[in-house]
Amino acid sequence: MEERLQKIISRAGIASRRAAEKLILDGRVFVDGQVVRELGRKCDAARAVISVDGIPICRAERRVYFLLNKPKGFFSTARDERGRRTVLELLPEVKERVYPVGRLDANTEGLLLITNDGALMNGLLHPRYEVEKTYVAKVTGNLTEASLKLLGQGVLLEDGLTAPARVRLLEQGTEVSRVEITIHEGRNRQVRRMFSAVGCDVKALKRVAFAGLGLEGVKRGEYRELSREEVAMLYEIAGMD
Ligand code: URA
Repeated sequence: MEERLQKIISRAGIASRRAAEKLILDGRVFVDGQVVRELGRKCDAARAVISVDGIPICRAERRVYFLLNKPKGFFSTARDERGRRTVLELLPEVKERVYPVGRLDANTEGLLLITNDGALMNGLLHPRYEVEKTYVAKVTGNLTEASLKLLGQGVLLEDGLTAPARVRLLEQGTEVSRVEITIHEGRNRQVRRMFSAVGCDVKALKRVAFAGLGLEGVKRGEYRELSREEVAMLYEIAGMD
């Protein structure tokens, strides 16, 4: 069935009808690889490949992208067989079938992306793209200059040497210290295991940045939708632009 292009774009949830018209006039809409600038154009949404700013619009289900500030105590799975609380319970209004992009331990808090865009999710999690993740860890134990240096250079874990990391001491206390660490690998419980390898115990862990996105303006337990620009940036980072 043929429909006007602006109607298809707005139904996909990308923009209002008027904003979709502007997208077309601005030359940001492509149908089957060709730019379309006239408003009268009709096409069949079930057959044509329509993209806005290079991002294909999904025919079956609108693609959605959220940034969640996960509190402790929630599991990063879509469902939990043992009935434990999952991160998806924090987005009750979201009707699409979404999944978390990777995992945070149940007792880790902070930034977790949630989407139904499987291709983007795979790209962001693929080791090839070395997506940066920054954590703030509250640690106990003897945190020395040497251990900070070692964390930055790479420590030997049971699954091999960790890649170089950026490490910054935020606060050195007599009992507890705070350290910011940026890694671009995604091994299981990596940050906790790295600190353990240098004789420190992580008492609290928070992810404060992921792929260039931060937690600004999103309180613990809350979430927000990503902007088109942010999604485009993620596509670029995941090698999909
Ligand atoms: N590293 C950890 O140890 N835990 C997380 O949740 C994330 C990174």
